Amino acid sequence: MPNAQPAIPDFLYGTAWKEDRTAALTELAIRSGFRAIDTANQRKHYFEAAVGEGLASVYRARLVTRADLFLQTKFTYQDGQDRRLPYDPAATLSVQVAQSMASSLEHLCTDHVDSFVLHGPASNSHWTTEDFETWQAMIKERDAGRTRLLGVSNISLAQLQQMARAHVEPPEFVQNRCYASRGWDREVRAFCRERNIIYQGFSLLTANQQVLRHPTIATLAVEINATPAQIIFAFARQIGMLPLTGTSSAEHMKQDLASLSLELPPDAVNAIEAIAG
Ligand SMILES: NC(=O)c1ccc[n+]([C@@H]2O[C@H](COP(=O)([O-])OP(=O)(O)OC[C@H]3O[C@@H](n4cnc5c(N)ncnc54)[C@H](OP(=O)(O)O)[C@@H]3O)[C@@H](O)[C@H]2O)c1
Repeated sequence: MPNAQPAIPDFLYGTAWKEDRTAALTELAIRSGFRAIDTANQRKHYFEAAVGEGLASVYRARLVTRADLFLQTKFTYQDGQDRRLPYDPAATLSVQVAQSMASSLEHLCTDHVDSFVLHGPASNSHWTTEDFETWQAMIKERDAGRTRLLGVSNISLAQLQQMARAHVEPPEFVQNRCYASRGWDREVRAFCRERNIIYQGFSLLTANQQVLRHPTIATLAVEINATPAQIIFAFARQIGMLPLTGTSSAEHMKQDLASLSLELPPDAVNAIEAIAG
């Protein structure tokens, strides 16, 4: 059983699309002050073994220990993968989940992760029989101590409601792409809030370029001496999200973390929430 119990983080550093820079950027993120890392055992978009190399460097430098970090990875169905699979595609989903987790632990040089996320349900429309089997296998991984917490990503309100109706154990995290044009995923966030599920928002900047350029943000940026990106991250936190950033820049890492000490006035939060991208 894991003995480390790092608290729920306040910011997640995302390692997607970093390819050969993954190890160096993971190390830089931790050196810059991030203590929570998001990855996936999906070689198509993430290089999880290189995240492990970055972690090994910071451990060697005695900058942090495993217990200081929150590590999150994902199980990805074959449909979301290329040919570099972390499991036997002929095996049952339960076995695939176990193999994917075993491979993640090897990549990340640890005996447990802090959060294990289903990268996305098998269908866009509903929670399928495949999802029931996969989720049960993920619960088994949690019960065996290989993850502390469970999450689901790219999930709709209808699917969350279906899980609840079927009395499926709820996730601790929902991780979704967060579009201002969809009320910043208002309905899913409300569902999560009512059930103490932590909402992780990704692509807060890339999915909301129009918001970053909006006059409301520009005026506020001057008033409080912050960048538009910092305002979006502070806003996300103030409406109850756990944000992810995918920056590759040392300067932006510092700025993103500095946004944790920004406190936007309530009328600014309301104004940003009302911007429909
Ligand atoms: N569950 C899923 O299906 C899923 C899908 C996509 C992503 N994710 C996770 O979410 C993470 C973040 O995703 P994302 O890349 O879409 O996030 P993002 O943070 O919205 O996008 C990163 C972009 O924002 C820029 N940026 C970051 N901080 C900035 C700042 N302070 N000022 C100006 N620009 C800034 C970056 O440019 P610079 O590099 O120049 O800073 C980069 O172009 C991923 O790495 C991954 O872990 C999960």
